[in-house]
Amino acid sequence: MKTYHLSVVVATGLVGQEIVRLLQSRRFPAESISLYSSDRSVGRRVAVNQRELVISQTSPEAFRDRDLVFFAAGAEVARYWVPLAVQYGAVVIDASEAFRAEPDVPLVVPEVNPQDILNHKGVIANPNCSTIQLALLLHPLDKVNPIKNVVVCTYQSVSGYGVAAVDELARQTRMVLDGQTPAPHVFPHQIAFNVLPEVDVFMDNGYTREEWKLSEETRRVLHANNMIISATCARVPVNVGHCQAIHIEFVSSINTDDARRILSGAPGVRVTDDPSVSLYPQPWSVAGTNDVTVGRIRQDTRTPTSLALWAVADNLRKGTALNAIQIAEEGLKRGVI
Ligand SMILES: NC(=O)c1ccc[n+]([C@@H]2O[C@H](COP(=O)([O-])OP(=O)(O)OC[C@H]3O[C@@H](n4cnc5c(N)ncnc54)[C@H](OP(=O)(O)O)[C@@H]3O)[C@@H](O)[C@H]2O)c1
Repeated sequence: MKTYHLSVVVATGLVGQEIVRLLQSRRFPAESISLYSSDRSVGRRVAVNQRELVISQTSPEAFRDRDLVFFAAGAEVARYWVPLAVQYGAVVIDASEAFRAEPDVPLVVPEVNPQDILNHKGVIANPNCSTIQLALLLHPLDKVNPIKNVVVCTYQSVSGYGVAAVDELARQTRMVLDGQTPAPHVFPHQIAFNVLPEVDVFMDNGYTREEWKLSEETRRVLHANNMIISATCARVPVNVGHCQAIHIEFVSSINTDDARRILSGAPGVRVTDDPSVSLYPQPWSVAGTNDVTVGRIRQDTRTPTSLALWAVADNLRKGTALNAIQIAEEGLKRGVI
Protein backbone atom coordinates (compact mmCIF):
# COMPACT_ATOMS: atom_id res chain seq x y z
CA MET A 1 0.00 0.00 0.00
CA LYS A 2 1.25 3.48 -0.87
CA THR A 3 1.96 5.65 2.18
CA TYR A 4 2.07 9.43 2.51
CA HIS A 5 4.02 12.16 4.28
CA LEU A 6 1.68 14.36 6.36
CA SER A 7 1.80 17.50 8.45
CA VAL A 8 -0.80 18.79 10.90
CA VAL A 9 -0.72 22.59 11.32
CA VAL A 10 -1.61 23.17 14.15
CA ALA A 11 -1.77 20.03 16.25
CA THR A 12 -2.41 21.70 19.63
CA GLY A 13 -5.96 23.04 19.21
CA LEU A 14 -9.14 20.99 19.71
CA VAL A 15 -9.45 20.17 16.00
CA GLY A 16 -5.72 19.47 15.48
CA GLN A 17 -5.68 17.05 18.42
CA GLU A 18 -8.76 15.27 17.07
CA ILE A 19 -7.16 14.97 13.61
CA VAL A 20 -4.07 13.35 15.14
CA ARG A 21 -6.24 10.91 17.14
CA LEU A 22 -8.35 9.98 14.10
CA LEU A 23 -5.36 9.53 11.77
CA GLN A 24 -4.23 6.83 14.17
CA SER A 25 -7.56 5.17 14.90
CA ARG A 26 -8.51 5.09 11.18
CA ARG A 27 -5.06 3.73 10.28
CA PHE A 28 -4.52 6.45 7.70
CA PRO A 29 -1.68 5.30 5.39
CA ALA A 30 0.91 7.70 6.79
CA GLU A 31 4.60 7.21 6.09
CA SER A 32 5.35 10.12 8.45
CA ILE A 33 3.32 12.60 10.51
CA SER A 34 4.85 15.95 11.55
CA LEU A 35 3.13 18.23 14.05
CA TYR A 36 3.26 22.03 14.25
CA SER A 37 1.97 24.87 16.42
CA SER A 38 2.74 28.50 17.22
CA ASP A 39 5.90 29.22 19.25
CA ARG A 40 3.84 28.77 22.45
CA SER A 41 3.69 24.97 22.21
CA VAL A 42 7.02 24.14 20.61
CA GLY A 43 8.69 21.13 22.25
CA ARG A 44 5.44 19.57 23.53
CA ARG A 45 5.44 15.82 23.05
CA VAL A 46 2.57 13.81 21.59
CA ALA A 47 2.35 10.02 21.31
CA VAL A 48 1.49 9.00 17.74
CA ASN A 49 1.44 5.38 16.58
CA GLN A 50 3.56 4.22 19.54
CA ARG A 51 6.17 6.94 18.85
CA GLU A 52 6.71 10.21 20.66
CA LEU A 53 6.56 13.20 18.30
CA VAL A 54 7.81 16.66 19.24
CA ILE A 55 5.77 19.67 18.14
CA SER A 56 7.71 22.20 16.03
CA GLN A 57 7.02 25.83 15.30
CA THR A 58 5.10 26.34 12.04
CA SER A 59 7.59 27.23 9.29
CA PRO A 60 8.13 26.39 5.59
CA GLU A 61 9.67 23.10 6.77
CA ALA A 62 6.13 21.92 7.55
CA PHE A 63 5.44 21.72 3.80
CA ARG A 64 8.69 20.48 2.29
CA ASP A 65 8.26 17.01 0.68
CA ARG A 66 4.78 16.59 2.16
CA ASP A 67 1.95 14.94 0.23
CA LEU A 68 -0.79 16.26 2.46
CA VAL A 69 -1.14 19.02 5.06
CA PHE A 70 -4.11 19.23 7.41
CA PHE A 71 -4.63 22.84 8.50
CA ALA A 72 -6.45 23.16 11.83
CA ALA A 73 -5.52 26.74 12.63
CA GLY A 74 -7.49 29.97 12.56
CA ALA A 75 -8.29 31.64 9.23
CA GLU A 76 -5.49 34.21 9.53
CA VAL A 77 -2.83 31.55 10.06
CA ALA A 78 -4.27 29.55 7.16
CA ARG A 79 -4.28 32.57 4.82
CA TYR A 80 -0.64 33.16 5.68
CA TRP A 81 0.70 29.61 5.27
CA VAL A 82 -1.61 27.70 2.91
CA PRO A 83 -0.40 29.37 -0.34
CA LEU A 84 3.17 28.40 0.56
CA ALA A 85 2.17 24.81 1.31
CA VAL A 86 0.52 24.59 -2.12
CA GLN A 87 3.60 26.14 -3.74
CA TYR A 88 5.65 23.35 -2.18
CA GLY A 89 3.37 20.81 -3.85
CA ALA A 90 1.33 19.59 -0.88
CA VAL A 91 -2.43 19.13 -1.03
CA VAL A 92 -4.00 21.15 1.80
CA ILE A 93 -7.23 20.30 3.61
CA ASP A 94 -8.18 23.40 5.57
CA ALA A 95 -10.63 23.47 8.49
CA SER A 96 -10.82 27.27 8.70
CA GLU A 97 -13.15 29.57 6.80
CA ALA A 98 -10.22 31.21 4.94
CA PHE A 99 -10.83 29.64 1.50
CA ARG A 100 -14.37 28.28 1.76
CA ALA A 101 -15.97 30.94 -0.43
CA GLU A 102 -13.32 30.82 -3.17
CA PRO A 103 -14.83 29.42 -6.38
CA ASP A 104 -11.77 27.31 -7.29
CA VAL A 105 -11.57 25.72 -3.81
CA PRO A 106 -13.89 22.70 -3.46
CA LEU A 107 -16.00 22.75 -0.29
CA VAL A 108 -16.62 19.11 0.46
CA VAL A 109 -18.69 16.76 2.59
CA PRO A 110 -17.58 13.38 1.19
CA GLU A 111 -20.99 11.70 1.58
CA VAL A 112 -22.61 14.57 -0.35
CA ASN A 113 -20.33 16.02 -3.06
CA PRO A 114 -17.22 13.80 -3.28
CA GLN A 115 -16.89 14.50 -7.02
CA ASP A 116 -15.97 18.13 -6.25
CA ILE A 117 -12.62 16.92 -4.88
CA LEU A 118 -11.55 16.19 -8.46
CA ASN A 119 -11.46 19.93 -9.23
CA HIS A 120 -9.02 20.91 -6.49
CA LYS A 121 -6.03 23.10 -7.30
CA GLY A 122 -4.11 22.33 -4.13
CA VAL A 123 -6.64 23.36 -1.48
CA ILE A 124 -9.82 21.60 -0.36
CA ALA A 125 -11.94 23.34 2.27
CA ASN A 126 -13.80 21.68 5.09
CA PRO A 127 -17.18 23.38 5.53
CA ASN A 128 -18.31 24.95 8.79
CA CYS A 129 -19.26 22.34 11.42
CA SER A 130 -22.96 23.25 11.35
CA THR A 131 -22.96 23.11 7.53
CA ILE A 132 -21.55 19.57 7.47
CA GLN A 133 -24.23 18.41 9.92
CA LEU A 134 -27.08 20.06 7.99
CA ALA A 135 -25.90 19.14 4.47
CA LEU A 136 -25.47 15.49 5.42
CA LEU A 137 -29.14 15.28 6.46
CA LEU A 138 -30.64 17.40 3.69
CA HIS A 139 -28.81 15.62 0.87
CA PRO A 140 -30.55 12.18 0.99
CA LEU A 141 -33.96 13.77 1.46
CA ASP A 142 -33.42 16.33 -1.32
CA LYS A 143 -32.47 13.56 -3.76
CA VAL A 144 -35.87 11.88 -3.23
CA ASN A 145 -38.06 14.95 -2.80
CA PRO A 146 -36.51 18.31 -3.72
CA ILE A 147 -36.29 20.77 -0.86
CA LYS A 148 -37.78 24.25 -1.28
CA ASN A 149 -36.76 25.84 1.98
CA VAL A 150 -35.22 25.15 5.38
CA VAL A 151 -35.52 26.90 8.72
CA VAL A 152 -32.80 25.83 11.13
CA CYS A 153 -32.02 26.83 14.71
CA THR A 154 -28.68 25.67 16.11
CA TYR A 155 -27.58 25.13 19.71
CA GLN A 156 -23.79 25.05 19.43
CA SER A 157 -21.33 23.80 22.03
CA VAL A 158 -18.45 25.92 23.29
CA SER A 159 -15.81 23.61 21.78
CA GLY A 160 -16.90 25.01 18.43
CA TYR A 161 -14.98 28.12 19.46
CA GLY A 162 -11.81 26.28 20.47
CA VAL A 163 -9.84 25.38 23.53
CA ALA A 164 -10.14 28.80 25.22
CA ALA A 165 -13.95 28.60 25.15
CA VAL A 166 -13.99 25.17 26.80
CA ASP A 167 -11.75 26.54 29.56
CA GLU A 168 -14.03 29.57 29.93
CA LEU A 169 -17.16 27.43 30.42
CA ALA A 170 -15.43 25.30 33.07
CA ARG A 171 -14.05 28.34 34.91
CA GLN A 172 -17.34 30.24 34.83
CA THR A 173 -19.37 27.21 35.93
CA ARG A 174 -17.15 26.75 38.99
CA MET A 175 -17.35 30.47 39.81
CA VAL A 176 -21.15 30.64 39.52
CA LEU A 177 -21.54 27.54 41.73
CA ASP A 178 -19.24 29.26 44.23
CA GLY A 179 -21.56 32.29 44.27
CA GLN A 180 -19.24 34.54 42.22
CA THR A 181 -19.99 36.54 39.05
CA PRO A 182 -17.52 35.62 36.31
CA ALA A 183 -16.26 38.19 33.84
CA PRO A 184 -16.52 37.02 30.21
CA HIS A 185 -13.29 36.80 28.18
CA VAL A 186 -14.05 34.63 25.15
CA PHE A 187 -17.76 35.32 24.59
CA PRO A 188 -19.48 38.73 24.90
CA HIS A 189 -21.45 37.56 27.98
CA GLN A 190 -21.29 34.84 30.59
CA ILE A 191 -21.80 31.44 28.90
CA ALA A 192 -22.20 29.30 32.05
CA PHE A 193 -25.93 28.75 32.81
CA ASN A 194 -26.76 30.96 29.81
CA VAL A 195 -27.58 30.86 26.07
CA LEU A 196 -26.17 33.43 23.63
CA PRO A 197 -27.91 34.03 20.27
CA GLU A 198 -24.61 35.28 18.86
CA VAL A 199 -22.20 32.92 17.09
CA ASP A 200 -19.52 34.85 15.18
CA VAL A 201 -20.00 38.56 14.42
CA PHE A 202 -23.21 40.38 13.51
CA MET A 203 -23.60 41.57 9.92
CA ASP A 204 -25.47 44.65 8.65
CA ASN A 205 -28.62 42.62 7.87
CA GLY A 206 -29.00 41.50 11.52
CA TYR A 207 -27.83 37.92 10.91
CA THR A 208 -24.51 36.66 12.28
CA ARG A 209 -21.69 35.43 10.05
CA GLU A 210 -22.27 31.89 11.35
CA GLU A 211 -25.90 32.07 10.19
CA TRP A 212 -24.80 33.43 6.80
CA LYS A 213 -22.08 30.75 6.45
CA LEU A 214 -24.55 27.99 7.31
CA SER A 215 -26.91 29.12 4.52
CA GLU A 216 -24.30 29.90 1.86
CA GLU A 217 -22.07 26.90 2.46
CA THR A 218 -24.96 24.43 2.64
CA ARG A 219 -26.28 25.65 -0.72
CA ARG A 220 -22.78 25.31 -2.19
CA VAL A 221 -22.16 21.79 -0.86
CA LEU A 222 -25.58 20.63 -2.09
CA HIS A 223 -25.25 22.48 -5.43
CA ALA A 224 -28.68 23.91 -4.61
CA ASN A 225 -28.50 27.61 -5.45
CA ASN A 226 -32.25 28.09 -5.17
CA MET A 227 -32.75 26.42 -1.78
CA ILE A 228 -33.85 29.03 0.77
CA ILE A 229 -32.16 28.51 4.14
CA SER A 230 -32.86 30.73 7.13
CA ALA A 231 -30.76 30.14 10.25
CA THR A 232 -30.58 31.28 13.86
CA CYS A 233 -27.44 30.14 15.69
CA ALA A 234 -27.04 30.11 19.46
CA ARG A 235 -24.15 29.18 21.75
CA VAL A 236 -25.12 26.92 24.67
CA PRO A 237 -23.18 25.84 27.77
CA VAL A 238 -22.36 22.35 26.45
CA ASN A 239 -18.78 21.14 25.95
CA VAL A 240 -19.06 19.09 22.75
CA GLY A 241 -21.93 18.46 20.30
CA HIS A 242 -23.97 20.86 18.18
CA CYS A 243 -27.78 20.48 18.10
CA GLN A 244 -30.04 21.61 15.27
CA ALA A 245 -33.84 21.97 15.11
CA ILE A 246 -34.54 21.69 11.37
CA HIS A 247 -37.81 22.46 9.55
CA ILE A 248 -37.80 21.43 5.90
CA GLU A 249 -40.39 22.19 3.22
CA PHE A 250 -40.34 19.88 0.19
CA VAL A 251 -41.80 20.20 -3.29
CA SER A 252 -44.29 17.40 -2.60
CA SER A 253 -45.74 15.73 0.46
CA ILE A 254 -43.58 13.41 2.52
CA ASN A 255 -44.50 11.12 5.39
CA THR A 256 -42.40 10.46 8.44
CA ASP A 257 -41.99 6.73 7.73
CA ASP A 258 -40.44 7.48 4.34
CA ALA A 259 -38.19 10.14 5.85
CA ARG A 260 -37.05 7.73 8.57
CA ARG A 261 -36.33 5.04 5.98
CA ILE A 262 -34.36 7.44 3.73
CA LEU A 263 -32.31 8.80 6.63
CA SER A 264 -31.66 5.32 8.07
CA GLY A 265 -30.04 4.32 4.78
CA ALA A 266 -27.96 7.47 4.36
CA PRO A 267 -24.19 7.21 4.90
CA GLY A 268 -22.96 9.06 7.98
CA VAL A 269 -26.48 9.37 9.44
CA ARG A 270 -27.88 7.47 12.42
CA VAL A 271 -31.57 7.56 13.36
CA THR A 272 -32.27 7.55 17.12
CA ASP A 273 -35.96 8.19 17.42
CA ASP A 274 -38.40 6.74 19.93
CA PRO A 275 -40.24 9.46 21.86
CA SER A 276 -42.20 6.81 23.81
CA VAL A 277 -39.04 6.05 25.79
CA SER A 278 -37.54 9.58 25.53
CA LEU A 279 -35.03 8.37 22.96
CA TYR A 280 -33.58 11.19 20.86
CA PRO A 281 -30.10 12.52 20.08
CA GLN A 282 -28.35 14.51 22.81
CA PRO A 283 -24.88 16.08 22.87
CA TRP A 284 -24.05 14.04 25.95
CA SER A 285 -24.50 10.72 24.11
CA VAL A 286 -23.44 11.80 20.61
CA ALA A 287 -20.10 13.37 21.63
CA GLY A 288 -17.30 10.99 20.68
CA THR A 289 -19.27 9.32 17.88
CA ASN A 290 -18.90 9.76 14.12
CA ASP A 291 -22.44 10.00 12.74
CA VAL A 292 -24.89 12.85 12.53
CA THR A 293 -27.66 11.49 14.76
CA VAL A 294 -31.26 12.46 14.02
CA GLY A 295 -34.52 12.00 15.90
CA ARG A 296 -37.86 13.62 16.68
CA ILE A 297 -38.76 13.08 13.01
CA ARG A 298 -42.28 14.43 12.71
CA GLN A 299 -44.65 16.19 10.36
CA ASP A 300 -44.11 19.93 10.50
CA THR A 301 -47.44 21.57 11.38
CA ARG A 302 -46.86 24.30 8.76
CA THR A 303 -47.78 22.20 5.67
CA PRO A 304 -48.20 18.50 4.66
CA THR A 305 -45.07 18.97 2.54
CA SER A 306 -42.92 19.82 5.57
CA LEU A 307 -40.94 17.82 8.11
CA ALA A 308 -39.39 18.72 11.46
CA LEU A 309 -36.24 17.02 12.81
CA TRP A 310 -33.77 17.28 15.67
CA ALA A 311 -30.12 16.46 14.89
CA VAL A 312 -26.92 16.31 16.92
CA ALA A 313 -23.31 15.81 15.79
CA ASP A 314 -19.91 15.89 17.44
CA ASN A 315 -18.57 19.18 16.05
CA LEU A 316 -14.96 18.08 16.53
CA ARG A 317 -15.49 14.75 14.72
CA LYS A 318 -17.93 14.84 11.78
CA GLY A 319 -18.13 18.62 12.22
CA THR A 320 -14.42 19.04 11.45
CA ALA A 321 -11.62 16.50 11.99
CA LEU A 322 -13.39 13.38 10.73
CA ASN A 323 -14.74 15.20 7.66
CA ALA A 324 -11.23 16.48 6.86
CA ILE A 325 -9.77 12.98 7.05
CA GLN A 326 -12.63 11.55 5.00
CA ILE A 327 -11.85 14.18 2.33
CA ALA A 328 -8.25 12.94 2.33
CA GLU A 329 -9.36 9.29 2.14
CA GLU A 330 -11.67 10.13 -0.78
CA GLY A 331 -8.87 12.06 -2.50
CA LEU A 332 -6.55 9.05 -2.18
CA LYS A 333 -9.25 6.74 -3.53
CA ARG A 334 -9.81 9.02 -6.53
CA GLY A 335 -6.07 9.45 -7.12
CA VAL A 336 -5.98 13.25 -6.67
CA ILE A 337 -3.74 13.36 -3.59
N1 LIG B 1 -13.78 23.58 17.03
C1 LIG B 1 -14.68 23.27 16.10
O1 LIG B 1 -15.70 22.63 16.37
C2 LIG B 1 -14.45 23.71 14.69
C3 LIG B 1 -15.40 23.37 13.73
C4 LIG B 1 -15.23 23.77 12.40
C5 LIG B 1 -14.10 24.49 12.05
N2 LIG B 1 -13.20 24.82 13.02
C6 LIG B 1 -12.03 25.60 12.61
O2 LIG B 1 -10.86 24.83 12.89
C7 LIG B 1 -9.80 25.71 13.22
C8 LIG B 1 -9.19 25.27 14.58
O3 LIG B 1 -10.21 25.35 15.55
P1 LIG B 1 -9.97 24.83 17.05
O4 LIG B 1 -11.32 24.70 17.63
O5 LIG B 1 -9.06 23.68 17.05
O6 LIG B 1 -9.25 26.10 17.69
P2 LIG B 1 -8.34 26.15 19.02
O7 LIG B 1 -8.68 25.04 19.92
O8 LIG B 1 -8.49 27.54 19.52
O9 LIG B 1 -6.88 25.94 18.46
C9 LIG B 1 -6.26 26.85 17.60
C10 LIG B 1 -4.77 26.66 17.74
O10 LIG B 1 -4.12 27.59 16.88
C11 LIG B 1 -2.80 27.74 17.37
N3 LIG B 1 -2.25 29.04 16.95
C12 LIG B 1 -2.65 30.27 17.35
N4 LIG B 1 -1.91 31.20 16.72
C13 LIG B 1 -1.05 30.54 15.91
C14 LIG B 1 -0.03 30.94 15.00
N5 LIG B 1 0.25 32.22 14.79
N6 LIG B 1 0.67 29.99 14.31
C15 LIG B 1 0.41 28.69 14.50
N7 LIG B 1 -0.55 28.25 15.36
C16 LIG B 1 -1.27 29.17 16.03
C17 LIG B 1 -2.90 27.59 18.87
O11 LIG B 1 -1.90 26.65 19.25
P3 LIG B 1 -0.71 26.99 20.25
O12 LIG B 1 -1.12 28.14 21.09
O13 LIG B 1 -0.50 25.72 21.00
O14 LIG B 1 0.41 27.27 19.33
C18 LIG B 1 -4.25 26.94 19.13
O15 LIG B 1 -4.08 25.73 19.81
C19 LIG B 1 -10.38 27.12 13.23
O16 LIG B 1 -10.15 27.72 11.98
C20 LIG B 1 -11.86 26.87 13.41
O17 LIG B 1 -12.66 27.91 12.88
C21 LIG B 1 -13.33 24.45 14.31
